[in-house]
Amino acid sequence: MVASTVKKLLRAGDWLATPLNAARYLETINPLWSDHGRGRVERLIQETPDTVTLVIRANGAWAGGEAGQYVQLGLDIDGVRYWRCYSLASPVQPGSREFSVTVNRLDGGRVSTYINDCLRAGDLVHLKATAGDFVLPAQRDDQKLLFISAGSGVTPVMGMLRQLIAERSGADVVMLHFSPDYAHCIFHDELRASNSEQRRIHLAVTREDARDGDLAGHFSADMLEQVCPDWRSRQAYVCGPSSLMSAVSELFLGAGLSSQLKQEAFVLKRAEVPEGAGGKVGFVVAGKQVDADGKTSLLEVAEGAGLTPEHGCRMGICCGCLATLKEGQVRDLNTGEVFGESGEKVRICVCAAAGDVSLEL
Ligand code: FES
Repeated sequence: MVASTVKKLLRAGDWLATPLNAARYLETINPLWSDHGRGRVERLIQETPDTVTLVIRANGAWAGGEAGQYVQLGLDIDGVRYWRCYSLASPVQPGSREFSVTVNRLDGGRVSTYINDCLRAGDLVHLKATAGDFVLPAQRDDQKLLFISAGSGVTPVMGMLRQLIAERSGADVVMLHFSPDYAHCIFHDELRASNSEQRRIHLAVTREDARDGDLAGHFSADMLEQVCPDWRSRQAYVCGPSSLMSAVSELFLGAGLSSQLKQEAFVLKRAEVPEGAGGKVGFVVAGKQVDADGKTSLLEVAEGAGLTPEHGCRMGICCGCLATLKEGQVRDLNTGEVFGESGEKVRICVCAAAGDVSLEL
């Protein structure tokens, strides 16, 4: 209340604040008064040895989002701002600006390692708008839903499950979640506690003996038939590594039911890249040139050269990394396609050099 009154008064006096507008001054008093999306980490919850949940309270400039969508989170690490996309693992309740994301430490992942090891309650983060259509149907009370997830792919699914529970939805849910073992099963206790007649949650472990009636092994059509014989009549969601995504999408494709399946990939699917496919990458604005192989994304090449290009998801989804190609061609690391004309915008997070190339960066 006090904050909003101060903001109104100061904004009314924007002309006094020249050369900066009042919002910039407000931001120096309290970063959460910024007119850009900001959030404070309210608390951290250690989910597994290498996974932590951040409960974040956003400021009024953040537009909110739906469970299952991803939010772009910006962190300042050693003076450089890094943006990453994380799924909302919780609903954003009406009237609340609190939400959670759950971050799994990736091998060599600068941001996920920082979040797991260094981030503390009270720290501030930058936020950009949420995006993505991996969300619940608008009419869901009488829906039959099927969630299939593995590893950290459980996070958007958990967001939707929590949403359904919070709104006491009448949706009929079957969930099949895979984890290598119990120690690394994110949300293990909550998933068990959420199991009910209306929400039948099946856990499967792939590298440990199953217990308590759980399943053992990887996804298969037989396993799905076993836990969910009516899967063909459900709106389905799958999120996890590419092996799971491929197996599930092939099953739905074979059944002529692809339109009933929503997919959220967490791991970039990499096409084969021929040896020696890279080249010299020129960054014309920065005035730098470096050697690059044909497998490393141009975003990583740029970061390795000390540049800090804008980006978001790093998975080819959000188009937050578009850069203009000046010369040469690039390879789409998802499909292997080589393409590009001078002046074309390319997603540098999923494209690598295909020979010598220069970018307007
Ligand atoms: S960072 Fe999202 S498409 Fe490249």
